[in-house]
Amino acid sequence: GRGAAIVTAVALRLVAQRHEVDQVLAPLRLSRDDLKRVQGLMRREMDLGLGQETNATASVCMLPTYVRNTPDGGEQGKFLALDLGGTNFRVLMVEVGADGIRMASESYVIPTAVTQGTGEALFNHIMECIMDFQLKQDLGDQVLPLGFTFSFPCQQLGLDKAVLLTWTKGFSASGCVGKDVVQLLREAAQRKQHLGLKVVAVVNDTVGTMMSCGYDDPKCEIGLIVGTGTNACYMEEMHNVGTVEGEQGRMCINMEWGAFGDNGCLDDIFTDFDLVVDKKTINPGKQRFEKLISGMYLGEIVRHILLALVDKQLLFRGKPCPKLQTNDIFPTKFLSTIEIDGLGLRKVQAILEDLELQASFEDSMLVREVCQTVSKRAAQLCAAGLAAVVEKMRQNQGLDQLVVTVGVDGTLYKLHPCFSQHVQQTLKDLAPKCIVTFRQSEDGSGKGAALVAAVACRGVKL
Ligand code: GLC
Repeated sequence: GRGAAIVTAVALRLVAQRHEVDQVLAPLRLSRDDLKRVQGLMRREMDLGLGQETNATASVCMLPTYVRNTPDGGEQGKFLALDLGGTNFRVLMVEVGADGIRMASESYVIPTAVTQGTGEALFNHIMECIMDFQLKQDLGDQVLPLGFTFSFPCQQLGLDKAVLLTWTKGFSASGCVGKDVVQLLREAAQRKQHLGLKVVAVVNDTVGTMMSCGYDDPKCEIGLIVGTGTNACYMEEMHNVGTVEGEQGRMCINMEWGAFGDNGCLDDIFTDFDLVVDKKTINPGKQRFEKLISGMYLGEIVRHILLALVDKQLLFRGKPCPKLQTNDIFPTKFLSTIEIDGLGLRKVQAILEDLELQASFEDSMLVREVCQTVSKRAAQLCAAGLAAVVEKMRQNQGLDQLVVTVGVDGTLYKLHPCFSQHVQQTLKDLAPKCIVTFRQSEDGSGKGAALVAAVACRGVKL
């Protein structure tokens, strides 16, 4: 009868809609072959980046850090640490003793106007925060050795000399690229007539994270960040590092894998959504791998997919969504909430309501599916990168099986309900000969900078 006809019509429409949704999301779903290929490409770029002659052509810079050992537990002293390049700027006091590490810290917001203004203003601001911290901590005239976690690509000429190669993650302060950031900090100190600054080491956040986890776990020889940006570092054999004199021992390499693909090698992975997101950043064409993975961009990818689904009448009944047109209105932390297992769809609806979106039950389900698709792809790509790293380490050491620990930090990795699981599962599949343990660091950037500073000071005192 008529009822059955209506049911059939509705069912057919649902099937057709499902098909259209799948077509929109298909390019974001990576096969195992895709991931294997990404792994292989990453490995090739790593080798190019390490070679003296080929380094300039590699999208992955493979920057030497002058960190030659992970901690041995003998580190000691009291240090100041700075952490610039994550969500907030932080100043820390770190005391490394025989019985462990004690810390005190303050977080400071750096307004976008300052991260995108002049270098002088940025480093003035940093100095003001340091001085505020020193007052609050009653540090008086004590001149503590300082470790500077500066999480941007730098050409290091030693532990305490780091020339900024380019800004990433939305920073663009003028007059800094091509300069030694330690020098920029010293100049700011002089402007503020602050005489007690003794910078002994600059470290990337990946290196700080590896070192801080390495303090508790000697197997930790890889550092990974998945937060605002993404990057990794690992211990490489010196004889493979063509860009630094010397063949003996090892050195930690800051991969700067966020730039992987900037030479076009990942072009067939990028979707139209990725292209739009990239185009709207202040550094189009740069940090392409990072823009698929990290917290600064995932929300934007989701937002563009949702807009496309609305456009195709597959979401929110096709009604225009003016607020959803706003850049960055859908932060990545929404993914972390929306994807919580068992989160009531009411909660999803509430989040969407803040964006003036009237979501039906089906709409909420679809939004969740989009979030899951985007974060899963990010985690899998991250795992493909890691697979290249652990496989290289295994081959370096001529082992049938490598047992290694990855020290991890970053809001996305830590706060998202299933990102870490996806990374670990995919890595197991892509690098089955490696037994990899993940260890989340607490305050890795600060602790790590202090540990590197401790090693540096020991060198000076001898
Ligand atoms: C960006 C920076 C890199 C840093 C990463 C994570 O990719 O270029 O140096 O490690 O973000 O913060």
